[in-house]
Amino acid sequence: MSRIVLGVGGGVAAYKAALLLRAFTEAGHDVRVVPTPAALRFVGAATFEALSGNPVTTDVWSDVDEVAHVRIGQTADLVVVAPATADLLARAAAGRADDLLTATLLTAHCPVVFVPAMHTEMWLHPATQDNVATLRRRGSLVLPPAVGRLTGPDSGPGRLPEPADVAALAHVALTAGPDVLRADLAGRRVVVSAGGTREPLDPVRYLGNRSSGKQGWALARVAAARGAEVVLVAAGVDLPAPFGVRVVPVGTAEELRTAVLAESPDADVVVMAAAVADFRPASVAATKLKKKDDPREVPEVRLVRNPDVLAELVAKRPPGQLVVGFAAETGDDDGDVLAHARAKLARKGCDLLVVNDVSGGGVFGRPDNAAVVLAADGTATEVPHGSKDAVAAAVWQTVLARLP
Ligand code: CTP
Repeated sequence: MSRIVLGVGGGVAAYKAALLLRAFTEAGHDVRVVPTPAALRFVGAATFEALSGNPVTTDVWSDVDEVAHVRIGQTADLVVVAPATADLLARAAAGRADDLLTATLLTAHCPVVFVPAMHTEMWLHPATQDNVATLRRRGSLVLPPAVGRLTGPDSGPGRLPEPADVAALAHVALTAGPDVLRADLAGRRVVVSAGGTREPLDPVRYLGNRSSGKQGWALARVAAARGAEVVLVAAGVDLPAPFGVRVVPVGTAEELRTAVLAESPDADVVVMAAAVADFRPASVAATKLKKKDDPREVPEVRLVRNPDVLAELVAKRPPGQLVVGFAAETGDDDGDVLAHARAKLARKGCDLLVVNDVSGGGVFGRPDNAAVVLAADGTATEVPHGSKDAVAAAVWQTVLARLP
């Protein structure tokens, strides 16, 4: 359980803060809601108190004996301000402490996420843009507002991003550590492949593998949280798109190859987390394969080789691009997991190889993982066992250290 401070600014979107609060409490977090006095003109304190189970105050004159304006900020694991209005961003950027929320922002040691919502003109005004730049320079994450219908009949940038997306981002920050909110991949374009390819045998059957796509999803989610522009080429996975990530669904290795090669030329990093089938049926039956009356008569499936997408990426990579491969290995008589992985890294020629020990099939579909990241220069970085988000954060840390 983490302690989240939910700051609520005085805008119409304050009603969505109640949904965000609900998402936080349902995820098991202890939430202290700190609205501005203006926010309470939109949503009553009773709503926030009932949903959070904690008292709600807006000024520094309540519970003075507890020194709330210092304690709430100091003890938080994460502060999320939603909606962050133009006025609130201005006061935060100026370092004001004229209500409990701004005082809390000055005393928080933890990551702070501002989720702006305001009219398009207010968002685009140079004063607001300067304030956003100041807050980002100081290390806060200021999300871009969503584009869409605003309070009145007009639309444009300024909508509050969906509460479920903000909750997912907060979850990443809490599970993968505060580093993920540093926006250190801002301005970078990354392509991640995830899941497992499916090679059809006939209209209903395919040859597949056990990859769940969860580690690739985590890599995309964490890269987007760190500010990267992310394309996720998803093979046979039907998970919801992570916040801020463009998903390109594919099925076969050939489709994955086409999508990854189309997206990768201007990417800074390409991560091949997908389990790509090395073989596919030589032909796909146009109609469903039927059993014969004679049980000894079974279909023969002839396989042909699929292209090696990683090898092709390495061969075509533009200067400065980092190519990261994945290897799911088991030890055997010819060598242990790392020996096989080192040979694979040399064979594939990629810059980094993330190695999973899959002896016993343990990692497939699980929420946790562990890995070793091998680099072409011979270094090996151990990624301790943790959530797939935490493993993703550690992989990006290794990648970041090598980006030009
Ligand atoms: N890969 C790929 N194209 C393929 C097979 C694999 O791009 N046809 C990529 C995977 O996405 C992964 C890396 O290559 O990043 C290693 O995958 P793996 O299946 O372990 O490699 P293989 O070369 O198939 O090695 P093995 O002989 O162990 O099967």
